Formats: sequence, C-alpha cells, structure tokens
Amino acid sequence: MRGRELATTRCVKCHVVESGSDAGASSDYSGPPIVAIFGRPVAAADGFAYSRALSAFGGEWTEDRLFAWILHPMLTVPGALMPEVKSLAEGDIADIVAYLKTVAD
Ligand code: HEC
Repeated sequence: MRGRELATTRCVKCHVVESGSDAGASSDYSGPPIVAIFGRPVAAADGFAYSRALSAFGGEWTEDRLFAWILHPMLTVPGALMPEVKSLAEGDIADIVAYLKTVAD
C-alpha cells in the first residue's frame, strides 16, 4: 500500500507507526507513537511530553484532522511542535491517512 510506504519512510524518524515494527527504529523518537492513531483522543500517548497547544486541542483524530495536521501541523494547531514534513503532495497525505486508518494495535 502506497500510504504505508510513505509513512514508513517519512514518519518513522520521529514516530513508531506499527507496533512491533522496526522500520526506522530509533532509540530516541522525538514524537509520540502513532500506532492505531485513527479515532484516538488527541495527545493521549502515555508518558509523552506533548506541547500545551496539542494537549489543549481536544477531541479525537478524524480523517479531516489528520489530513490538516500532516499538511500543516503548526497552522492546524498553533504552537504545536511537529515540523512540517516536506515534499508531501496532497495525494500523498490522503494515502498516508488511508493507511493510518488501517493500522490496529
Ligand atoms: C521531525 C519529527 C517528526 C516527523 C518527521 C513527524 N512527526 Fe508527527 N509529531 C512529532 C512531534 C514532536 C509531535 C508532538 C507535537 C506536540 O506535542 O505539539 C507529533 C505528533 C503527531 C501526531 C499526534 C499524536 C497524538 O498522540 O495525538 C500525529 C497524528 C502525527 N504526529 C503524525 C505524523 C505523520 C503521519 C508523520 C509523517 C507524515 C509525522 N507525524 C512526521 C514529530 C514528527
């Protein structure tokens, strides 16, 4: 699946995207795990020090929110700490979101 290929190359530097996956495994991820993130409450990974901005965002990760966040993290949630992932076309982001919806624990 194309979205998986993109996520496991562009997001794994900072996030675990599949449990048990060692794709891009690093001992110092700078972001929270995003395994099974679709439908989850925002900023809810145990033990991760989220920004105040993302902690205050509230609600759950829907398709629209994931799309907007990946496209422009700091415009979607002003004050959040995820840098914009460069060189992703909107079609790439749609594929990544479609993939994230399929990832279970
Ligand atoms: C350079 C590191 C970095 C990269 C690359 C990165 N992220 Fe993030 N991401 C972060 C950080 C840091 C946070 C926490 C932001 C905060 O607390 O404000 C975050 C938060 C998130 C969240 C919210 C998680 C939650 O628990 O609510 C999602 C969803 C997310 N990222 C998806 C992605 C996706 C999808 C990609 C690849 C397209 C990606 N990120 C690439 C650093 C990164």
